[in-house]
Amino acid sequence: MKRSLIAIQDFSVEELQELMDTANDIIANPSGYSELCRGKKIATLFFEPSTRTRLSFEAAMLELGGAVIGFSEAQSSSAAKGESVADTAKVISCYADIIAMRHPKEGAPLVAAMNASIPVINAGDGGHNHPTQTLADLLTIYREKGRLGNLTVGICGDLKFGRTVHSLIAALSRYEGIRFVLISPEELKLPSYVKKEILKANNIPYVQTTDLEAVMPELDILYMTRVQRERFFNEEDYLRLKDSYILTPERLYNAKKDLCIMHPLPRVNEISVAIDDDPRACYFKQVLYGKYMRMALILKLLKEAGTL
Ligand code: NCD
Repeated sequence: MKRSLIAIQDFSVEELQELMDTANDIIANPSGYSELCRGKKIATLFFEPSTRTRLSFEAAMLELGGAVIGFSEAQSSSAAKGESVADTAKVISCYADIIAMRHPKEGAPLVAAMNASIPVINAGDGGHNHPTQTLADLLTIYREKGRLGNLTVGICGDLKFGRTVHSLIAALSRYEGIRFVLISPEELKLPSYVKKEILKANNIPYVQTTDLEAVMPELDILYMTRVQRERFFNEEDYLRLKDSYILTPERLYNAKKDLCIMHPLPRVNEISVAIDDDPRACYFKQVLYGKYMRMALILKLLKEAGTL
């Protein structure tokens, strides 16, 4: 049966483990996967800028032996002529076997999934969700820490508009012993719907603070994020808030020796490049793991659709 990935909650914890197991197997044995998608196509429909997500979907499909079609900006698609997302999804279903879609409007990939006859993957919808970044994040934590539970997870920066944050919180909340430390300026706190529907609904312990230094010693994971300029209504607010948190080597003085520093990238100023060589810096590993998780995801969805 055709299945799509719109929100990370679409997968059970067992399915997330299965995807991580497949990704780990691909890392160990890449040649065993290099022909599995021969003759299959992914369409990457990107109505918003992207480097990693689009290219990692494309690299993932190419490494599975498949092919890629798509566009990387709305202006070069028929959306510029007024075509609806629903129609675009029906049209692309005639050309490709699976769709990865990024769109500035919350819910657009869901509309696509309701209208496509092939699986649709949400590659980021507005300030809402970004489930495949979460797949990359989960594999990174699992490989670095050897577990996904019993962790104190600090998430720092733009918790209001950061879609990767919303999906990561939804995913980690399903594991035992997770505690969140939410670090942001007052104006960029986690939306109340995420607190209510995920944290409070599942009795997940969390604290909110503006002070990164004060909470640093407790953290097992520090997930830094960029202030999402494109979602602000006025530039002044962005300029005032953009450099709220800048991680430098000095600011790690009271951090755990085995802290795992993550960032979905792109970084602007949130992490000094001087940290890149610190063994605790995991953000470029996240990029690599993202490709393997997307390979595992493409295989799973194509198998379930009966295409493979
Ligand atoms: C993120 C996104 O698009 O939400 N980027 C990504 O896909 N790795 C984070 C961001 O843009 O800040």
